Amino acid sequence: MVKKLIIANWKMNPRTVSEAIRLAKSCDKNEVVIAPPFVFSEAVGKVIKKAVLGAQDIFWEDKGPYTGEVSYRQLESVGTKYVIIGHSERRAMGETDEIINKKAKFALAHGLRVILCVGEKSDVRRRGMAAAKKFVASQLERDLQGAISSKLKVSSLIIAYEPIWAIGTGKNETPKNASKIAGFIKELLVKSYKFKVRVLYGGSINSENAGSFLVSRDIDGLLVGGASLKTGEFNKIIKSA
Ligand code: PGA
Repeated sequence: MVKKLIIANWKMNPRTVSEAIRLAKSCDKNEVVIAPPFVFSEAVGKVIKKAVLGAQDIFWEDKGPYTGEVSYRQLESVGTKYVIIGHSERRAMGETDEIINKKAKFALAHGLRVILCVGEKSDVRRRGMAAAKKFVASQLERDLQGAISSKLKVSSLIIAYEPIWAIGTGKNETPKNASKIAGFIKELLVKSYKFKVRVLYGGSINSENAGSFLVSRDIDGLLVGGASLKTGEFNKIIKSA
């Protein structure tokens, strides 16, 4: 069985660089990606040996007058290999599909591996699975327009299915429904782009529920927020992969 990928999205945590180093050392395992805040990237990159460095965002230009933004070259220069794009917390702050598309295209074209986050709000999900699939399909279409070429390696693009109502709330989609949507995403990308992607699930993952998602053939790993900041919890999640 192929090992599943576990991504730690630290969001705006922890508070200090020494805490970040301690946390990174505690989960330095194969098939783990750590996405710290930019300010800790270099320090984390230096202490991890097996885990791989990720970032939580990227800008779509190389360099220049873009106050507060971070370029792929800067990320690469500290060893970043993966970048999370389109997280719902950024979408909620105004990041549009157009912006996400620019970031995804740019990052892929420059050799970074992209973890593109998609997922519906609770009002959509309440209308049923078909509505959730339709919503996700339209996000994928807009976010990936022009981003996938025949040159792209299969490992370069990962989709993280994260229903917004499940993020940080303690609520989960059922593993059965999450794998249905993961399977749907895979089929869709094969149909639209002849491209095979890995699909992760994310949203209130903890050591108790991780295994029930990871047994699914269509779920290739997990994107973990809150639980990735708790050493014991996160290590149990890694073990279940
Ligand atoms: P959570 O966050 O695990 O805290 O729900 C997941 C995410 O936002 O990627």
